[in-house]
Amino acid sequence: MSFTSPRYEFQDKGADYARLAQELAALLAGERDFIANAANTAALIYAALPEVNWAGFYFLKAGELVVGPFQGRPACVRIALGKGVCGTAAAERRTLVVPDVHAFPGHIACDAASRSEIVIPLLAGALLLGVLDIDSPGTARFDAADAAGLGELARLFVAASASGGAHAA
Ligand code: SME
Repeated sequence: MSFTSPRYEFQDKGADYARLAQELAALLAGERDFIANAANTAALIYAALPEVNWAGFYFLKAGELVVGPFQGRPACVRIALGKGVCGTAAAERRTLVVPDVHAFPGHIACDAASRSEIVIPLLAGALLLGVLDIDSPGTARFDAADAAGLGELARLFVAASASGGAHAA
């Protein structure tokens, strides 16, 4: 099987995210290694989504977020819960869609090119594992359809990879 995923047009976000979810399920099938699956999930998202300059994970370790597998420029390593977009989404356990990162109080600029961002918490039941973070150089790149589609990809990753909290530690 080849994993040269197309860069979808995303004219019909619902349909394209559904295809991407099928691709991700195939990519993760039969593998439960947390880091391996996180790496392939980040790579698939980065390759498939237009107008994205960073896609990857922060994992909750000893009470703070620590960068995990990603695609894009080198990033801030540690983010406290409640800080930045990632730390806020993690603390509040909800998806944050930020149309203009410069208007988000406390936004942490890793790549100066980033203009908008979406952060999705990774939950295994009640357990917070971390977040999936995607940045774009365009303003207002992400909307509710992206939140739904990427939320499903995050859910697939957790279901395929997490085992009762014994994750990336
Ligand atoms: N902008 C994020 C930091 C992570 S980078 O975008 C990769 C934030 O404010 O939490």
